[in-house]
Amino acid sequence: MNYDFDRRADLSGFGSVKQEATSRVFGESGLLPLWVADMDFQGPHEVIEALRRRVDAGIYGYSFRTEALEEAVIGWMDRRHGWTIRKEWICHSPGVVTALAACVQSFTSEGDAIVIQPPVYPPFSKVVTESGRKLVTNPLRLTNGRYEMDLADLEAKIEANGAKMFILCSPHNPVGRVWSEGELEALIAICRRHGVMIVSDEIHADLALPPHRHTVLAKLLAEDERFVICMAPSKTFNMAGLQSSFILIPNEEIRKTFSAYMERLHIGGANAMALTAAEAAYRHGDEWLDQVIGYIAGNVDYLIEYVNAHLPEVKVARPEGTYLVWLDFRAYGLSPVQLSDWMTKKAKVALNAGHQFGAEGEGFMRLNAAAPRAVLEEALQRIREALPEMPEPALAGQ
Ligand SMILES: Cc1ncc(COP(=O)(O)O)c(C=O)c1O
Repeated sequence: MNYDFDRRADLSGFGSVKQEATSRVFGESGLLPLWVADMDFQGPHEVIEALRRRVDAGIYGYSFRTEALEEAVIGWMDRRHGWTIRKEWICHSPGVVTALAACVQSFTSEGDAIVIQPPVYPPFSKVVTESGRKLVTNPLRLTNGRYEMDLADLEAKIEANGAKMFILCSPHNPVGRVWSEGELEALIAICRRHGVMIVSDEIHADLALPPHRHTVLAKLLAEDERFVICMAPSKTFNMAGLQSSFILIPNEEIRKTFSAYMERLHIGGANAMALTAAEAAYRHGDEWLDQVIGYIAGNVDYLIEYVNAHLPEVKVARPEGTYLVWLDFRAYGLSPVQLSDWMTKKAKVALNAGHQFGAEGEGFMRLNAAAPRAVLEEALQRIREALPEMPEPALAGQ
């Protein structure tokens, strides 16, 4: 089956954040929404059909996670990632961010230092600070247009702060890096040396853009080591609104602690629709995913060509994975507020402001390229046409 990604479904009245909350969030109407991280595309037809059958049953009572669902998860990890997992490793969480917060609260104590690598998805810092832990940053380094880990700084910070946990974003949102095995090995070696537990958020694992290949961190670790892998069908199959993620924990003690924490919160219940959708996606979603990755890769190529030709002052780090593109507007010298205001008020495009990903993101904007090509074209054209209306950098700081 050939999927049509050129069409954006109308979600009016359904409370879609991207389609309906944009004017509220950005305080401006008429914006093209290329911000929040979900796709404009309909998911695999097998998922839609499975949900339709589930809806037709007309009864949406309490549901449990069946063996068939667990088998679908196991099959997916094996097929797509070459990672053999056991049924008992599979834990659950409504969202990955919930799982990150649960890990922080289950495996560290107040005041403990936890390391993250900004610029990074904003909840990474929130789950640390909101739980009264000490946030330690190991900023990524931008070298010749490519982000890299600063491993010397990582080790120094872990040592200086006696860090207990490291939260990895792999692939990385927003910079789009798919970490190489070598980089991950080096990171693991440092964490091992200092007894640092690794929580690896791999929600974008299925969205590596060829030729890049995602390495599940667990494949480089022994089963009894202290780590947690967070996976989900939400980004992969555009079902973030269903709230279902799979937290994979081989170490029994870690797993029991994590599950006990979730039980204490009484959030272990399963959403009937999410179960149906996740199983269908993991069983039948390969072809759709391959096609959507091809479409996103085409959008990324188009965007990079366009930016180089028409927005030469803007630098783009080509994403190796995810559908998120990190645009560097620093050459214009604007303050974060000036840049965001110009993008919304003059270009009329809704992008995520870079400074929300940490101070390292100031002067950047994150664009979501999982949109029909025509929407992307219009967004880029709007940005180009708004260039003459960019404020003077002399006003920076306002
Ligand atoms: C790295 C990363 N983790 C987690 C999430 C959100 O996960 P959830 O909606 O399952 O909490 C996102 C969403 O953009 C993300 O990019």
